[in-house]
Amino acid sequence: MIKRFKLVLSKIRITMKQTVVRIILLLCTCFLWSCNSNRTFTERELALVPQVQKMTLGQSSFRFKKSTGFVVENAEQEVIAGQLASMFEKAAGWKPQVIVGGGESSNQVYFKTEPSLGEEAYLLDVKKNGIIIKAAQPAGFFYGIQTLRQLLPAEIENNPTHENVDWLVPVVSISDSPSFKWRGYMLDVSRHFFPKEDILRMIDNLSLHKINRFQLHLVDGNGWRIEIKKYPKLTEIGAWRVNREDKYWGSRPKQQPGEKATYGGFYTQEDIKEIVAYAQSRYITVIPEIEMPAHNTSALAAYPQFSCTGGPFTVLPGGSWPITDIYCAGNDSTFLFLQDVLSEVIDLFPSKYIHIGGDEADKTEWKKCPKCKKRIKAEGLKDEGELQSYFIKRIEKFINSKGRVLLGWDEILEGGLPPQATVMSWRGTQGGIDASRQGHDVVMSPEVPCYFDHYQGPKDQEPMAFGGCNLLSEVYKFDPVPKELDKEAAKHVLGAQANLWTEFVPNFKHAEYMTFPRIAALAEALWSPKEVHSWDSFWNRIQLLQKRYDRIGINYSKSASKIAVQAQSEPANSNK
Ligand code: ACM
Ligand code: ZN
Repeated sequence: MIKRFKLVLSKIRITMKQTVVRIILLLCTCFLWSCNSNRTFTERELALVPQVQKMTLGQSSFRFKKSTGFVVENAEQEVIAGQLASMFEKAAGWKPQVIVGGGESSNQVYFKTEPSLGEEAYLLDVKKNGIIIKAAQPAGFFYGIQTLRQLLPAEIENNPTHENVDWLVPVVSISDSPSFKWRGYMLDVSRHFFPKEDILRMIDNLSLHKINRFQLHLVDGNGWRIEIKKYPKLTEIGAWRVNREDKYWGSRPKQQPGEKATYGGFYTQEDIKEIVAYAQSRYITVIPEIEMPAHNTSALAAYPQFSCTGGPFTVLPGGSWPITDIYCAGNDSTFLFLQDVLSEVIDLFPSKYIHIGGDEADKTEWKKCPKCKKRIKAEGLKDEGELQSYFIKRIEKFINSKGRVLLGWDEILEGGLPPQATVMSWRGTQGGIDASRQGHDVVMSPEVPCYFDHYQGPKDQEPMAFGGCNLLSEVYKFDPVPKELDKEAAKHVLGAQANLWTEFVPNFKHAEYMTFPRIAALAEALWSPKEVHSWDSFWNRIQLLQKRYDRIGINYSKSASKIAVQAQSEPANSNK
């Protein structure tokens, strides 16, 4: 009996001890939390990518609490604030209120229009008891919110357990605007097709980096990816190829008679509208690319009458070189077909720029084709090079008649540029240099370092990629304005673009691997002024940004770390 009593007493003592320990722990936590509201951050703790133009870091911090709200001026700002409020809802389990028009009170985030700022510029002022974001345009508020998002703990990206996070933002004053207005990324959805949901995900993750142009390479020999109502066979036939995914890209046998084409896919016009609207709400313009006169065997498989030979053609399951299956430039019905296609495309995409490809057209068939020869003669053209120029100029007239601007790869310089065209320079920067000197706007996307289908680390440790190697550090160092350009020509360089061709990118996880973190490096090269570029600082921020990528679930590459380790180990080895 006494024994049992002692046992009960000792149990009570243990329980009391545990309770006391718990109370002490709780008090410590509360104490730490109250201290934390005064927590001061150092610059090396901040993972702003791209780096901001000017920043003054202060003492202490602002805490987001359940009572914190956003006070905005209009419906557009309400949507932007609502995006961050929704992230809190998922991450914290509570959603800050967004109020249109409201009085001043403490611990709120205020949006205030400041008309003197540039289109994408913003000011972000974080004080201990309140935050103010100023911008002239919605895009500026959006970028201010992206910066605020990056100042918040990484758990804001995805914290489904609703674990206790102290939602602190350092006291800081930021003044920011981009160096270049074209900060682009292209995804080839023809060589491999990526469903709409993947595209939306990519748009989301590009917007975190303040990328503002997203080019969809919708047409190539391996698949036509956009529904065109007037020509249903473009997707009924053109969107599908035989599945040769088990074979090397460059040696895939063509479709055999009787073989069914089952591999591929396409975006309906409803899908496209959703993609465009989703991107718009993240201040990204989607630019459609409809390839011509080459890179379109998929279209000719559906409508062979628009070729020189009449076909037949099948959608290519892999690589084919040179690209001789091209539209007939002597046939007026080809142009009527392309105008119909472009009309539907233009109705779907509000983008000022319509990309018409224009690259790598082999003129073998044009040399043989009676209609093409007749066209050369009738138009007084010198050769097939000028016939290509005739083709592109004719298409430009149509695009201009719809109030849009033609954008094409640098081959559109050959035989003379269309008068209003903008050039995307991919075979190095020479095309961009020539075009800008002729007074044309250009976007720089030279293979080195802007092609993200190239390797990003030691080849023997990387999945199969396309040829060369574009390291993270090389992307970071890229300056889109070539040194040889004078001031006047340099003004025509709108910015730059990364291109992800997908011959060796069979799924979306792989597309993410090739894109991140290299897109972060390009984003900083294009957004941040040269004075704040610093590889050491970027490298530190990338380590922190990766924690955010982990939360989002981005399948990013760590190849640059392998390079860093190799580079460090080399001098040690050479000392032996
Ligand atoms: C291209 O890489 N052919 C534009
Ligand atoms: Zn022809």
